[in-house]
Amino acid sequence: MCGIVGYLGPLNPKDVIVGGLKKLEYRGYDSAGVAILDGGLVKRVRAEGKLRNLEAKLAHESFDGHLGIGHTRWATHGVPSERNAHPHQVGGVSLVHNGIIENYLEIKEALLKRGANITSDTDSELVAHLVAEQVKIQKDLLKAVQVVLKELRGAFSILVIWDQQPDRLVAFKDGPPLVIGLGEKQTFVVSDVQAALNYTKKFMYLEDREIALVQGTGVQVFSSAGAPLQKPVVELNWNADQVEKKGYSHYMLKEIYEQPHAVSSAMAPHIDATNQTVRLSKVGFGGAGVTHLESLDAAKDWEQTQKIFASVNRVTIVACGTSYYAGLVGKYLIEALAKIPVEVDVASEFRYRKPVLLKDTLVITVSQSGETADTLAAIRLAKENGLQTLSICNVRNSSIDREAHGHLYMNSGPEVGVASTKAFVSTLAIFNLVATAFGQARGQLSLGQAREQVQALLAVPSQMEVVLAYDKYFADAAEDFKSFKGFLYMGRGVSYPIALEGALKLKELAYLHAEGYAAGEMKHGPLALIDERMAIVMVAPSDDLFEKTVSNLEEAKARGGKIISIGTGENERLKSISERYLGIPKAHWSTNPLLEVVPLQLMAFHLADSLGHDVDQPRNLAKSVTVE
Ligand code: G6P
Repeated sequence: MCGIVGYLGPLNPKDVIVGGLKKLEYRGYDSAGVAILDGGLVKRVRAEGKLRNLEAKLAHESFDGHLGIGHTRWATHGVPSERNAHPHQVGGVSLVHNGIIENYLEIKEALLKRGANITSDTDSELVAHLVAEQVKIQKDLLKAVQVVLKELRGAFSILVIWDQQPDRLVAFKDGPPLVIGLGEKQTFVVSDVQAALNYTKKFMYLEDREIALVQGTGVQVFSSAGAPLQKPVVELNWNADQVEKKGYSHYMLKEIYEQPHAVSSAMAPHIDATNQTVRLSKVGFGGAGVTHLESLDAAKDWEQTQKIFASVNRVTIVACGTSYYAGLVGKYLIEALAKIPVEVDVASEFRYRKPVLLKDTLVITVSQSGETADTLAAIRLAKENGLQTLSICNVRNSSIDREAHGHLYMNSGPEVGVASTKAFVSTLAIFNLVATAFGQARGQLSLGQAREQVQALLAVPSQMEVVLAYDKYFADAAEDFKSFKGFLYMGRGVSYPIALEGALKLKELAYLHAEGYAAGEMKHGPLALIDERMAIVMVAPSDDLFEKTVSNLEEAKARGGKIISIGTGENERLKSISERYLGIPKAHWSTNPLLEVVPLQLMAFHLADSLGHDVDQPRNLAKSVTVE
């Protein structure tokens, strides 16, 4: 987690770095700081808390140099405080770090023996000490980093500058991302392209244990052994203005409203307009690599994808958080449409529980950021075991995207709100397409059935617009939530993961206790919780399981539970049992989840906002979890 920005170029580094950190604040907001050249020395300014505290301090500061680094922190080692804020400075060395140094205790002990004066509780400061020791010996920052990198274990991305070589910046990583933005006579080194999109669309992605030397107007990248490397430059099509709020009060609200568009963009490349069926576009299983997807022969690539779908005998979906719940929806869809067994695993469990990985399994990872450490480890584990992997990512060229054999994109555009929304619905659209393609490749779906799936999906964006039009109603419903002490979100079948996601949204944003449950499990425990202060949020579309879901609701009502239900259209039956009823348009069973989640997102948003919480940056959370 943590966001880092480095800059070397003609502009005012303070403005560039603070502007970049603003775009990265979603990665952590416990403290922030900068170290910028001024009068031949490096001046450091740090502040506890959100970036605005640093900005207030910087308002009175000016710098005459053209080199600097900055950091916004999500605390791992050491409480959030100014003392623990980055950059860390030792001698003339200033350093920012994202991640965890796993052998920090060993390093600390050795440094203390050598008489180091350690002033913070962080693992990051220790690296600054190591570099400071080495620059004295090597008399060169790059050489010093080459020595220090050998000593570090863990997950880290690091930028370092030295006042004795004020024309250069050195960057290196193992784990969390570092991207080098190549501008006109200027260079940016950032945790996420969003921080440099205002200045360039050309980026170079640093791989693990590579070291980049940014000097003058150029960049050289070396292997850890010091060999110079040729790195591909990728040109992105994201715009800086996609990362603005565009008149919305919050990024999250804007992103919820962008969902119809996100769904259209996710499915557009993969729908064969003539046949109204699915034809996954340029997935790249053939091994072209992520930077060469565009140049693939579409027909051959589609053939290859179908071959893989037809040849595997099981699917394992691995992800974290909201992406995991999207994966659960994927399971229901793929099993129903392709008749192939699907397992879904939380990445942090998958990577350590010694899973039985059979060769005929396709592993699908889901990750908005493409940088979640556990999901990245999961895909590596799958590859080490010789399995085919397919990634569903939003951020192109992200670490997970680069590792996977096959690539599908959410195409949601940048998602800034820490709680994921539009990436979730885009993923559900992708799973609908994958399940349909799988079903056809395995002879389980006829052309007619595949068309029915596609038509259902094509209807979603306008159905979603209808749901969004009831936002005011969801805001009123959210007011009711204030009188409850706890919440049980429930659903059956493909709506069960939506109940889980709804409960997660309430926890993340409103800091209220909510649990998601399969409605059929209510009798096995949760019924004991029910009284008049417990709300039951039931997702009950008019599908095959509707009658069973209503029976569960009756049981809860008979025990005093207060019911908020989401159903299809004007459902009188649900209305008569519920305190609040929220209708969504009639849709196909496989696309219901895309509509059901919208009221749940909006109710959590409005409740959190009216409670005065920071909806875009909920406490203790970060959007991109690059440490395990
Ligand atoms: C964090 C975010 C969630 C997200 C999860 C997985 O917890 O706050 O919104 O769902 O990470 O992230 P990913 O980028 O892998 O989808």
